[in-house]
Amino acid sequence: MDTILCTYDQNQPDEAAASIDLAAKILQQGGLVAFPTETVYGLGGDALDPSASMRIYAAKGRPSDNPLIVHIADKADVWKLAEEVPETAVMLMEAFWPGPLTIILRKKPVVPDATTGGLSTVAIRMPSHPAAMEMIRRSGVYVAAPSANRSGRPSPTTAEHVREDLFGAIDMILDGGPVGIGIESTIVDLTGEVPMILRPGYITREMLSAIVGPVELDPSLEQLDAEVLGGAGAVTASTATTTDSAKTQESAGQTDDPADLSGSTGQTDDQTDISDSTGPTDGRAGIARANGQTDDRAGIARAIGQSGSAGSPGKNSDLPAEDTVMQHPKAPGMRYTHYAPHGTLSIITDREHPEQVTQAVTAEILRLTKEALAEERETAILTTGEHASAYDSLTEVPHFHKILLGDVDDGQTVAAHLYGALRTCDTLGCEVIYSESFRRDALGSAIMNRLVKAAGHRVISV
Ligand code: TXA
Ligand code: MG
Repeated sequence: MDTILCTYDQNQPDEAAASIDLAAKILQQGGLVAFPTETVYGLGGDALDPSASMRIYAAKGRPSDNPLIVHIADKADVWKLAEEVPETAVMLMEAFWPGPLTIILRKKPVVPDATTGGLSTVAIRMPSHPAAMEMIRRSGVYVAAPSANRSGRPSPTTAEHVREDLFGAIDMILDGGPVGIGIESTIVDLTGEVPMILRPGYITREMLSAIVGPVELDPSLEQLDAEVLGGAGAVTASTATTTDSAKTQESAGQTDDPADLSGSTGQTDDQTDISDSTGPTDGRAGIARANGQTDDRAGIARAIGQSGSAGSPGKNSDLPAEDTVMQHPKAPGMRYTHYAPHGTLSIITDREHPEQVTQAVTAEILRLTKEALAEERETAILTTGEHASAYDSLTEVPHFHKILLGDVDDGQTVAAHLYGALRTCDTLGCEVIYSESFRRDALGSAIMNRLVKAAGHRVISV
């Protein structure tokens, strides 16, 4: 398939209007258009046309039981798509739309099962990016749109990222420049008694609570927080090396690429529905996490030794006594490995001060990085303005890459750079990646959520 590339620049109104016209026409005809939103680029198709939804799944390589978000440009459309619109929905729509908030409501029959992955609920969002709004309005179509990445790859924050993943597989890419926010919308389920966050994002729990009162977190998100805080299954950094095989315990080190699946536990957000209940090891010691989680849908609990790209094959003989049962995320897509670079990404935290990048953290990253470099592995450190100088001694070392995400207290910049940085690691051919961690205030919760998932839950506590 030929993919048409068009630009959308508000300073070039004629060209922008022509691009929107073409995008609208393609959507009306059942085709697929990648377009910018304020969060990430989306891959849009007619949400009420089951065959368009199936085309989206096929282009992404995503399983068709992972539901799509329906994008609208007029709040009144919610009543056309949802069976019940609770007061909380109206309040949140008024407060945050257009903007990076997705709400889950009970669906009307008009929304096909192909779009909702067979669920009786529908995810709806009104994006604020002018290109997205204009395209939806002009087409007169409700636009089903997942992030416009190939299965398991980091979400695209530029049109170039979309081109890398989907060129030739979709009808059109609408290039509106780099997106503003850089991580996907907050998803809040409004079908229960109390609103529940299924995916953290730019709109924080505090912001939601200020409008609707108490807001719950999907239990699986709380579990993820516990991991970062050095809870069950956390790691002893003193034993962490890139090569030892003792004490290695980690889970969800699945590959992000369907092509990598042969004989591994590889699994992507878009690939199968067997959950991330795996306990592969990649041979790096001291990297630990609760393992052997149970998947209540597939009924499987796996602890699979897996040779990763970094280190020698791990041993699986040192499973922690008290394995944690993984909570099942309510958003189907949150079950899968996401955002993952091809290399092995680990996050280093300080057990005593999990919200800070201490000297102990940078020293451990330096030590691990030197080990990897000694083996001539392409190695990257994801760091921040405040701490980047801690790695200055490596600047001239071959195979070393330092990637700045932004300043520690500038979550907006870090969020905007995160997925691009993960893609850069792939472009550089990095096999080993170490990242500092981020304070989970405001946008930090969403940043750490994505980072921990990208790292396949490899969190090393010093
Ligand atoms: O910012 C965003 O939300 C971007 C842009 C393009 O709008 N879209 C996006 O879509 O991130 P996607 O498909 O990559 O992620 C949607 C998530 C998935 O985890 C999916 O399982 C969940 O939303 N989801 C969709 N419908 C749902 C439903 N009815 N109930 C629970 N989760 C749902
Ligand atoms: Mg996605």
